Amino acid sequence: MKHEKPRVAVLPGDGIGPEVMAVAVRALEASGFQATYVEHDVGWSCWRETGTALPNATLQACRDADAILFGAITSKPEEEAQRELAPHLRGRASYRSPILQLRQKLHLSTNIRPCQGNGVDLVLFRENTEDLYAGFEASPVPELLAKTFPGLPVGPDAAVSLRVVTRAASRRIAEAAFAYAARNGRRRVTLLEKANVLRQTGGLMRSAFHGAGAGYPGIAQDEMNIDAACARLVSRPGEFDVVVASNLFGDIFSDIAAEVAGGLPWAASANVGEKHALFEPIHGSAPDIAGRGIANPCGAVRAAAMMARHLGQTGAAALLEGAVQQLAARPLANDMTTARWEREVLALLSPIPA
Ligand code: NAI
Ligand code: MG
Repeated sequence: MKHEKPRVAVLPGDGIGPEVMAVAVRALEASGFQATYVEHDVGWSCWRETGTALPNATLQACRDADAILFGAITSKPEEEAQRELAPHLRGRASYRSPILQLRQKLHLSTNIRPCQGNGVDLVLFRENTEDLYAGFEASPVPELLAKTFPGLPVGPDAAVSLRVVTRAASRRIAEAAFAYAARNGRRRVTLLEKANVLRQTGGLMRSAFHGAGAGYPGIAQDEMNIDAACARLVSRPGEFDVVVASNLFGDIFSDIAAEVAGGLPWAASANVGEKHALFEPIHGSAPDIAGRGIANPCGAVRAAAMMARHLGQTGAAALLEGAVQQLAARPLANDMTTARWEREVLALLSPIPA
């Protein structure tokens, strides 16, 4: 711990981000979680006014904090981003998602996403820094590449995004999954890949996975192709336990898992590195409902619970997790107001009157 009382950097962001973060912080306080909170700017309004969605002061505050609680941000395609930028900055800045920047700059290499509900009880470990999201993209495709890959279409009517996989990162994510399984009494770890087609990158993921698994003889380990796994998740959701995937496959699989388990608003994830950790609900800024006071804050409360557990405040974490789980089991209307959700969460956190 860097500070006597953990210091939490709160980044509410855009749209419903601030609406759900406010509830998460009040739920943390009601759970007995001990911390100091400092709010920082991030997201679309920063981008429009300053040409960066992640101000330096915010990045520094995240580096100095013991944990980061992140709401949600708005991202838009480059053309729109330029149009909405302050006139004096147009053409001088290019937009990059602050959550992707934070994951890379703070080396948050492990994304952990638990999904529970409707027969699903799985924990996904998603590699967070490489794969098709590594940022190596080109259009027009450079002639140079065709020298290495004869037959590759080049020129302005072609585009490439490189799938980057390293043994170190693959081994790290697999190790994290096996260690989690061992610590939490989980029986099986499954790699989701497509090594029959993506022979090099998928093959490397596979060999790193089995390398890590060799240290855990008591835990069953197997592989599934990502497409078959998505189908299976819908028909037999109970078959998955701990799951490991690369960045893109993990992104897609985890959204399906969250939907099957009860819906995007309910799910949260942790982004963890050696020095820093960031916790967030998995949904975005939901511009279609922002400002109407109807956002469901349960994913944000779950993110807060994961943070409390990470910081060793397991009593508070268990209270928060229990409250969300009880709400998930109730036949509540999905169109409740945020204020009503908050009352329900806080009521479940308060000590029962004698
Ligand atoms: P979204 O998650 O914001 O919304 C998808 C749908 O779910 C919408 O109909 C929305 O109203 C609903 N929804 C989401 N969260 C909800 C909640 N807590 N309560 C009730 N309903 C909820 O995803 P979408 O629409 O694809 O993206 C909107 C913006 O968010 C985009 O600019 C996108 O780039 C950004 N985004 C940001 C993320 C982040 O901050 N980590 C993640 C995903 C998207
Ligand atoms: Mg996603």
